[in-house]
Amino acid sequence: MDQQLEQLRIEALAAIATAADETAVEQARIKFVGQSGELTALSKGMKDVSKDDKPRIGKLLNDVRTAVTAALDERKGALLADADAAAFAGVDVSLPGTAPRLGSLHPITQLQDRAVQIFRRMGFALADGPDIEDEWHCFDALNTPADHPARNEQDTFYLPDGRLLRTHTSTIQIRTMESSAPPIRIIAPGAAYRRDEVDATHLAQFNQMEGLYVAEGVSVADLKGTLEFFFRELFGNDAQFRFRPHFFPFTEPSFEVDIKAAAFGGGDKWLEIAGCGMVDPAVFESINTKRGDAAYDPEKYTGFAFGFGLDRLAMIMSGTPDIRYFTQNDQRFLAQF
Ligand code: DAH
Repeated sequence: MDQQLEQLRIEALAAIATAADETAVEQARIKFVGQSGELTALSKGMKDVSKDDKPRIGKLLNDVRTAVTAALDERKGALLADADAAAFAGVDVSLPGTAPRLGSLHPITQLQDRAVQIFRRMGFALADGPDIEDEWHCFDALNTPADHPARNEQDTFYLPDGRLLRTHTSTIQIRTMESSAPPIRIIAPGAAYRRDEVDATHLAQFNQMEGLYVAEGVSVADLKGTLEFFFRELFGNDAQFRFRPHFFPFTEPSFEVDIKAAAFGGGDKWLEIAGCGMVDPAVFESINTKRGDAAYDPEKYTGFAFGFGLDRLAMIMSGTPDIRYFTQNDQRFLAQF
């Protein structure tokens, strides 16, 4: 029996050592130490072993089983490690991974944030108002009565109840003065709507930024200084300006601002970028009537206002030829900002 056990140990260890895969290891386990394997068969012979030999043979039997089981485990582990190594062969696990792609803010939002920051440094507060307005806030209070030709140029979308989508952010001037007495210094970015034919420079919904400063002794010099500072911060110190007389119903005098700056391609053409002027006393009077007080006394207070299109500015700054790119959400376009 000793010899048979030693023989089995040698055979089993040899078979396990040369097992080429997991299946071969499992076959060896079944053959040598399985329930109906060779070791089990041999152990059945224990009953014929003499009483004196029993402890020794019993111990040998256990030793062989332990050795074979350990060899099986070890071989299995080695095969697994080989399989892992093969799977990673040629893969450099120290290479950096694929970084997730981060999005970015929309170019109009980026420009709006920059503009707000510049005006904040000059003490302007942020103001807001509703996109759905009434005719009074959009036109009448801004000195544009129903029969005024300026209403034709700002045709918009009307709701069945007579309200409308605001044609400009100038409505926020009115809303702010209605609720707060002077002095006032606000900027108001927001959407504006017009029933325009959509083309390379027009959308039915676009973005504007409005400004209003009302206090004692505000003059055209303040208006010019403020806007020139703002646009120089945006476009560079070499920017040149032209304040061209213009007409807006709610300012008197009124101007359009033209700019020339190296930042824009050739930089030799005047580009119109904003409308502005001194708040018309008629606007103060409508506010007073609405408020029921004389908070905006035109003899005491003066103010300037301005408005510009954020989309138009973004187009000029980025050399974007078609305003529609800003609303198409094409990643190839947006990823450039
Ligand atoms: N609301 C004008 C527009 O949409 C822009 C504008 C012009 C705003 C002059 C102003 C201003 O505040 O003073 O065309």
